Amino acid sequence: MTNSQLYETIYKRKSIRKFDMTPLDAAVLTDIKNHTAEIRPLDRKIKCEFVYLGSNDIKNLLPIKAPHYICIYSEKTEGFLTNAGFLLQQMDLYFSANHLGSCWLGMAKVAGDIPDKRNGMEFVIMIAFGKTTEPLYRSNVSEFKRKNLTEITNLTDCKELLEPVRLAPSASNSQPWYISGSKEEIIVSRKSLNIIMAPLFNKMNQIDIGIALCHLWLSLEYHGLTPDFAWEKVNVPKGYDYMTTIHVSESR
Ligand SMILES: Cc1cc2nc3c(=O)[nH]c(=O)nc-3n(C[C@H](O)[C@H](O)[C@H](O)COP(=O)(O)O)c2cc1C
Repeated sequence: MTNSQLYETIYKRKSIRKFDMTPLDAAVLTDIKNHTAEIRPLDRKIKCEFVYLGSNDIKNLLPIKAPHYICIYSEKTEGFLTNAGFLLQQMDLYFSANHLGSCWLGMAKVAGDIPDKRNGMEFVIMIAFGKTTEPLYRSNVSEFKRKNLTEITNLTDCKELLEPVRLAPSASNSQPWYISGSKEEIIVSRKSLNIIMAPLFNKMNQIDIGIALCHLWLSLEYHGLTPDFAWEKVNVPKGYDYMTTIHVSESR
């Protein structure tokens, strides 16, 4: 699976919530696990682990049942939620590109004998995956329910580069990202939350930013550009909180 294939999947993927409960073949699961070992983190210093569970090992308030779940456990350090979103979105795209259904589950928890802490890390979030009989893909970007590009950026010369960010999935489809700066120095911020919304969305929106950064990275790479992610705390538009700066250079 190449990053170009993941990039192309951005334009058609969708969340799948109805699964065929037949477990995937062992060989398919092995390929998935091998792929997990290859994905790129946003911050290599943050210790993470992936754990694969079945439907008896999780509890979810919503009636979404799948044969498999991939969970990410992470060290709880600066940027860990964004890093988790960046990592697992690569798996979401991988599932879709391999004709499997998947859905991020922000409300689900590990259950029963499965510990929510392991090796100094804590459970962060999971994605349900498996075969589906539902249509896997959107046939046109107009089928994505998303904000317009002008609502998520003030950059006027980056339409193609930023379209994958616009199409990124987010918890409750909140789309909290905003892109400013310039084509060479992209600044990513997220919508500030008020005291009522913060308990509901603070965690999820940081994961959402990681998802958007994954799409932006794939887009930059697809267009022959190399991103260098940095945390520089520069000014962002009013109503947004700074997340990341991306220094963009031509790939050699
Ligand atoms: C961090 C995160 C958490 C999510 N949690 C849930 C969830 O608990 N239940 C659910 O049905 N969908 C969940 N979703 C899926 C979103 O509702 C979905 O991505 C969004 O509405 C956009 O739709 P699309 O993925 O089909 O493009 C979650 C998505 C993200 C990114």
